[in-house]
Amino acid sequence: MFDPAIYRERRNRLKKDVGSGLILLLGNDEVGMNYAANTYHFRQDSTFLYFFAVNQPGLAAVIDVDAGTETLFGDDLTVADIVWTGPQPTIADYCKPAAIAASASAAALDACIATAISQGRRIHFLKPYRTEHTLKLVSLLGIKPTMVATYRSEVLHKAVVAQRNIKSAAEVADIERAINVSREMYLAAMAAAKPGKHEYEVVAEILRIAKARDCDLSFPIICSVHGETLHNHQHANLMKSGDVMVLDSGVETVNKYASDITRTIPVSGTFTPQQRAIYEMVLRAQMLAIGAVKPGVPYKDVHLMVARSFATDLKAVGLMKGDADEAVAAGAHAMFFPHGLGHMLGLDVHDAENIGEQYVGYEPGEERSTQFGLGYLRLARKLEPGFVLTVEPGLYFIPALIDQWKAERHLEQFINYAEVEKYRDARGYRVEDNVLVTQSGHTVLGAAIPKTVADVEQACKG
Ligand code: GLY
Ligand code: MN
Repeated sequence: MFDPAIYRERRNRLKKDVGSGLILLLGNDEVGMNYAANTYHFRQDSTFLYFFAVNQPGLAAVIDVDAGTETLFGDDLTVADIVWTGPQPTIADYCKPAAIAASASAAALDACIATAISQGRRIHFLKPYRTEHTLKLVSLLGIKPTMVATYRSEVLHKAVVAQRNIKSAAEVADIERAINVSREMYLAAMAAAKPGKHEYEVVAEILRIAKARDCDLSFPIICSVHGETLHNHQHANLMKSGDVMVLDSGVETVNKYASDITRTIPVSGTFTPQQRAIYEMVLRAQMLAIGAVKPGVPYKDVHLMVARSFATDLKAVGLMKGDADEAVAAGAHAMFFPHGLGHMLGLDVHDAENIGEQYVGYEPGEERSTQFGLGYLRLARKLEPGFVLTVEPGLYFIPALIDQWKAERHLEQFINYAEVEKYRDARGYRVEDNVLVTQSGHTVLGAAIPKTVADVEQACKG
């Protein structure tokens, strides 16, 4: 949690940017896993945290832009609740750390919104991503569920993103704390990955370090010797000599700022010549991309620079052919690099993605590509000082995709399908770091995590 004045300043700027009406922000609720009292790990809504700091379920907040007031709504625990939970702060207590002037009961929210509606005032709210929020909005606003998306406030979406996209020094410091925990996790994972062990034993090392540093995961761990499956959350494979493992994981600090790091680990401790060649293409592309990060550069251009680097390197080993620029324009590289180069990082691992990537990662009016591969790019806009983003190129040999494209003879002027067969079982490779855009360039955040072939192989020795 930051200084109370920071939250007040954020809300004041929000009022200015939204202009008039009421801003309604809903905190998250507990969600039952298999029955109501057996809950999933609670995660507060990030925008609620950003403006109100309170990391508790069952709250809502209203900013009256015209009156300049701010109210936190929620109910204090009863003694019957406290029997189970122990003594907890009151709603009024929760106001202090975020400098919120007023609090009221949960029931008072209905009256507050009803009065505003009867006065014809605009209620600004964000598009919900949880069903219970949709139901609350339906009840508070008296609209049909299908109208919630229609009535969401475009001006509020843009105003929230305008602030959350630019990280302060205090936010960057928190992201660095998360990355430094990730570093410990990666050193442990590199030492732990061994033939004869299961992937879940590496996952156990990672979880142990996260918990020992009072962190939670920022997203489900990807830890697999089948890294060609991009979001592979299965960890049951037995690791064998010659396997290569993609480990993509992150933690969030007590303040909920995230890290998102990927390394590719040779299970035997050394890469085979083929693996090493592919890995070095990925590392070269990643360093090239990091070097290009500076204010004013569209991240889409950096993505395409990486695609050209891949097309050139893949041509050199006979997997691709023809002109690299033409191959990239046609999207041929996407058979090997089917995802985007990166995304914003902050309170969410894909920061503010619930608010909409069209606001977070694209310029106003900029259309997202419909081309396979480029269409998955979450961040395309011109970079600005204060953006924190991931740089995560990867190369993959996805049998189902290879088979489909080959059968269709898709872009065969750029892809040497006969040669691709020799790499069919080469699997997946990705390297990811978290980068701050500075006034003049960039800073790779956190202490360095091994990524050259020599450093990764050394770290695998433990
Ligand atoms: N780290 C997973 C992702 O960026 O989607
Ligand atoms: Mn990522």
